[in-house]
Amino acid sequence: MQLTIQSGGPLRGVAVVPGDKSLSHRAALFAALAQGESVIDRFLISGVTRAMLDALTGLGVAWQVQAQQLTICGTGLYGWRPPAAPLDCRNSATTIRLLAGAVAATGIPATLDGSAGLRRRPMNRIVDPLRRMGVEITPATNGGAPLLLHGRLPDQPLRAMDYSLPVASAQVKSCLLLAALGADAPVTIREPGPSRDHTERMLGAMGVRVTTGPGHTVTIHPPTEPLLPLRLQLAGDISAAAFLIVAALITPGSEILLRDVGLNPTRTGLLDALCAMGADIQIANLRDWSGEPVGDLRVRHSALHATQVSGDLVVRMIDEFPVFAVAAACAEGVTLVREAEELRHKESDRIAAVAHELQAIGVAIEPLADGFRITGGPVAGGTVQPHGDHRIAMSCAVAGLVARTPVVVDGAEIMHESFPAFGETLAALRRP
Ligand code: S3P
Repeated sequence: MQLTIQSGGPLRGVAVVPGDKSLSHRAALFAALAQGESVIDRFLISGVTRAMLDALTGLGVAWQVQAQQLTICGTGLYGWRPPAAPLDCRNSATTIRLLAGAVAATGIPATLDGSAGLRRRPMNRIVDPLRRMGVEITPATNGGAPLLLHGRLPDQPLRAMDYSLPVASAQVKSCLLLAALGADAPVTIREPGPSRDHTERMLGAMGVRVTTGPGHTVTIHPPTEPLLPLRLQLAGDISAAAFLIVAALITPGSEILLRDVGLNPTRTGLLDALCAMGADIQIANLRDWSGEPVGDLRVRHSALHATQVSGDLVVRMIDEFPVFAVAAACAEGVTLVREAEELRHKESDRIAAVAHELQAIGVAIEPLADGFRITGGPVAGGTVQPHGDHRIAMSCAVAGLVARTPVVVDGAEIMHESFPAFGETLAALRRP
């Protein structure tokens, strides 16, 4: 499928973004480990969350989705059935990494696999620490998926550990915190930066004792009681809202209201970076939804100027760099992103792929070993390839709003991985 976007009038009106992808993955997986029925409202139904749900089916967990409500019958920590076939995590790194930790906790044998793209992604970051906990796990020869978890006897808990992650990663942290549910004593994970803390919040709501220490340290105390089922309303995905925020900021005359957007401080780095560039973004109606902060965002077209991004801010906006690069391309001056080498390990090598595709539509962007240098100026337009990466597809579409000639996104169906209604939502905001 091709998506063609050409410049036109302003964005105006109200939009609601889909339920948060990270929260949806966690809600489904954790509910499957709980004892009893969980009900999750505003669940994201997309390519990657389907991968999680179908993997849960393979483990003998029953669920159903109606409208945007997921109902799931948790079996308890030790009620999963060893799957008859490898679990296909498709394109979803969150699914394979979090599932690996959960399967390790349950002690059942299982093979976790995925798409060719997923097989290329690094798994040593979970394999090494899981082995330290006593998990028998065999990756493919390149160190990636398929991951074979050999299982263990029910009377053999995993070993406790105190482990420092070399790179801040919520997926790796969450994998290990889930494995800790099957350990014989508390497990402590230390991180060099503030990765998203949805796992800690949600496990806490399920009755698990979660303690935090100085720096970015979290400890899970293995539960002695069954995990409580969840009754949640999920926040809107700020990583989906990001495309509409940048779209409104760069398109003259725009003013939009995005309702019920998740504003967990570990996820709001993009807002901080854009505000430092002069963006007019107002937060209203801040409240708590099932343990996560949520608010409404009013975004107006703004004259942006360049900024610099590095350090903890990188972690707090880790998924937003493709669309941030579009904002920087529309800003006055030279924007610099450093200490973001982790972008090379996402759905694509996002440093190489973003630079290549934005260059293709006339943006002055230079890839660096650990980031980008972007000089603001006019966007020409042209045809782009998403590199199997939903966020690159949507970011290039946003750039089309200000391009001199149309931007044509080839293979645009990849957007369905995280924001299936992106095209319709953008079109509705552009309707005069
Ligand atoms: C995610 C964590 C991030 C992010 C991904 C979702 C999660 O990955 O890029 O889209 O839900 O935990 P890392 O933890 O590998 O940085």
